[in-house]
Amino acid sequence: MKTRVTELLGIKYPVILGGLQWLGRAELAAAVSEAGGFGLITAGSFANKDEMLAEINKARKLTSKPIGLNITLGTRRKMDEFFEGAIEAGIKAVFTSGRNPEPYIKSLKDAGVKIVHVVPGVRYAQKAESLGVDAVVIVGFEAGGHPGMDDVTLMSLIPKASRVLEVPIIAAGAIADGKGLAAALAMGAEGVQIGTRFVATKECIAHQKVKEAITKASETDTILTLRSINAAFRVLKTETAKKVLELENRSASMEELLTYAGGDAYVKVVRDGNLEAGMISIGQGVGLINEVKSVRDVIKSMISEAKDRLQVLNRFFNSWEV
Ligand SMILES: Cc1cc2nc3c(=O)[nH]c(=O)nc-3n(C[C@H](O)[C@H](O)[C@H](O)COP(=O)(O)O)c2cc1C
Repeated sequence: MKTRVTELLGIKYPVILGGLQWLGRAELAAAVSEAGGFGLITAGSFANKDEMLAEINKARKLTSKPIGLNITLGTRRKMDEFFEGAIEAGIKAVFTSGRNPEPYIKSLKDAGVKIVHVVPGVRYAQKAESLGVDAVVIVGFEAGGHPGMDDVTLMSLIPKASRVLEVPIIAAGAIADGKGLAAALAMGAEGVQIGTRFVATKECIAHQKVKEAITKASETDTILTLRSINAAFRVLKTETAKKVLELENRSASMEELLTYAGGDAYVKVVRDGNLEAGMISIGQGVGLINEVKSVRDVIKSMISEAKDRLQVLNRFFNSWEV
């Protein structure tokens, strides 16, 4: 199976491990690359460039296949050193998200590093294309993390994007099995980026309680928080997440919100398994996940189910006359 995304990243299957704050580490990224996908190490999980470079080295001991970096751009932290690190380490591709990647595009391109930008809507994808990125990830309303403020699902975003963009499109949001993969490709994507499904794998360092919560949750167990500060954030529907919504409804201060929505609180969830200490991003595809599996098994079953699906569809289509 070749798409422009597999060609761009030098991979077998068009399945990408998305940026996962604190969780996107060597073991998980290497396992995804080793299984034929593309694993991203999440730069924001590290205090500085050297820590990130050490993690890249660790991943390279686990796989000789290409790996990438997610660098999330925000207002609170300068990320320049991580881009320098990407170039120093000869990373295959950097996936940027959060803010405009323009200041970094030229230096990455000059160094032969591919750049893919993650956006929550078609107009942002067009802007990224005009800046010269190699591909875009389009995140739908269903997705874990920050799905943007437009509330549009992949079903509308991907077909529209494929009409107006030249660069390859990677779909992200609620893709957790082969049917989702096949659907994304059918709509015009050439790859998928996955978050939630990979959190519930053996190789992910998330606390066992987080993985169990994912396997038990249904598609209605996520909630959108932080709309009030223009940073919609889809998370597991816990008592704490509901409390954050209450705080937002009564216009609580940023400081109060950050007690539950900040990075320290999040680490207590994923590292310590204290599900009510903060909030964890989870996509609506969580309802499709009922087992903690190895990354290899996740990818294998995804590919074989997608193939089965397409055979069934072929039988339908072949019987239709236009
Ligand atoms: C626990 C978790 C942490 C995430 N952290 C980041 C991040 O640091 N940077 C980023 O660009 N995206 C982040 N995301 C979003 C993912 O990269 C991906 O786009 C999204 O999870 C896809 O939707 P899905 O979870 O429904 O598969 C995170 C998602 C999850 C579930």
